[in-house]
Amino acid sequence: MVDLNEKKARDQWGSRFGFIMAAAGSAIGLGNLWKFPYMAGKNGGGAFVFVYFIILLLVGFTLMLAEIAIGRHTQLSAVGAYKKLSEKWSWLGAMGVLAGFLILSFYSVVGGWVINYIIKSVTGVFSTADVDVLGGLFTGLITNPVEPLIYHAIFMIITLAIVIGGISGGIEKASKILMPALFIMMFIVMLRALTLEGAMEGVKFLLAPDFSKINGEVILAALGQVFFSLSLGMGCMITYGSYLSKDEDIVQSAMIIPLLDTAIALLAGLTILPAVFAFGFNPGEGPGLLFVTLPAVFSKMPLGSLFAFIFFVLVLFAALTSAISLLEVTVSYMVDEFRWERKKATFTMAAIIFLVGATASLGLGVWSNIKIVGGRDIFDSLDFTASNILLPLGGMLMCIFIGWVWGLENAIKEASNQGKLAFKLAPFWGFLVKWVAPVAIGIVFLNSTGLLDI
Ligand code: PHE
Repeated sequence: MVDLNEKKARDQWGSRFGFIMAAAGSAIGLGNLWKFPYMAGKNGGGAFVFVYFIILLLVGFTLMLAEIAIGRHTQLSAVGAYKKLSEKWSWLGAMGVLAGFLILSFYSVVGGWVINYIIKSVTGVFSTADVDVLGGLFTGLITNPVEPLIYHAIFMIITLAIVIGGISGGIEKASKILMPALFIMMFIVMLRALTLEGAMEGVKFLLAPDFSKINGEVILAALGQVFFSLSLGMGCMITYGSYLSKDEDIVQSAMIIPLLDTAIALLAGLTILPAVFAFGFNPGEGPGLLFVTLPAVFSKMPLGSLFAFIFFVLVLFAALTSAISLLEVTVSYMVDEFRWERKKATFTMAAIIFLVGATASLGLGVWSNIKIVGGRDIFDSLDFTASNILLPLGGMLMCIFIGWVWGLENAIKEASNQGKLAFKLAPFWGFLVKWVAPVAIGIVFLNSTGLLDI
């Protein structure tokens, strides 16, 4: 990410490819590789994926363009952007900052698990496809009171070092190589998983929707997943868009980023769920799904340990490019709004986020009897509140803001480069922003509270 300290002469992305890779770097992460397959597994497979696609089409693409347009128009990051367009709406940016803060706290715990699995792959523990052994390895790690905290700290320190060192430019360059590498790697592992005996059951589970499984809970989960996976609803894409030059075609960018993101999520799903069925794991396993099934796939590949190592390193990289965007949003908020020095802001916020994350980690083990939001443990409570409530709420309010306060005309002017680009779908997009997206999100919320039954 471009150094947000640059206030006067604002940096711009070197090329559109650079912007797309950076934005895709924020979008593609644990949300695709770790969360999407396990959410699909827990929420009825094809039913979840079906709803996910509908929301992606109606809300995902729409909001991606909306956020990028606000960012490029104001040339400011989230809070500043809302402030500039309407002083009364700056709290909406602050709400996004809170969401980012909560997400990073548990995200970093999972990032820590990935680091642990990189080490495990080197020490050769993945030579078995035994369900119980692999399940035991994972549970042993996450319920341990100390070990996951150490890895969580390491993940947070790496994220902090990147944000503080302002070396995110280097990260961007690296992502031009490593993101495509992740893609190719995922593809190879998917081919192996798909050729396992019994794998087709998993493909069916993921792609053939059983409509009777769709309910309010599944819809809310899919809605949250779209926002989480695309980094929407918290101003992240506003910030990225603010570094775009006025003559880039943002309509096209706003299509490419969700497409790349979805491709990776599907690759992950089509690797993990077939493996679940081939090896007899439980698709509703939850957060451990990636960590227990993939080692089983690697154990069935020639040079499996090497594959496992490269794979988890790439997962770590993808997680870090998302984590820096999360930390950056929080840090720039403290710098812009409270005039904190950047170094102080980064250290302080990283430390607080680490502590909150630590409670999430302990909540999976020694504190598992503590239940907060709707009977969920600490980890799930943080995830649920941020992903399923704050992000969609932020997105809904942003649509209302654009449609009814800033004005569709202004937004469309920005998206079409003052009319210089042909934006044929402009009226349709406007309709989605003003009516469809906010109403749809509102209905999902009402439905999940039981006030409205669809
Ligand atoms: N989209 C990221 C992922 O899928 C997570 C994220 C959410 C990053 C919100 C920034 C903002 O891993």
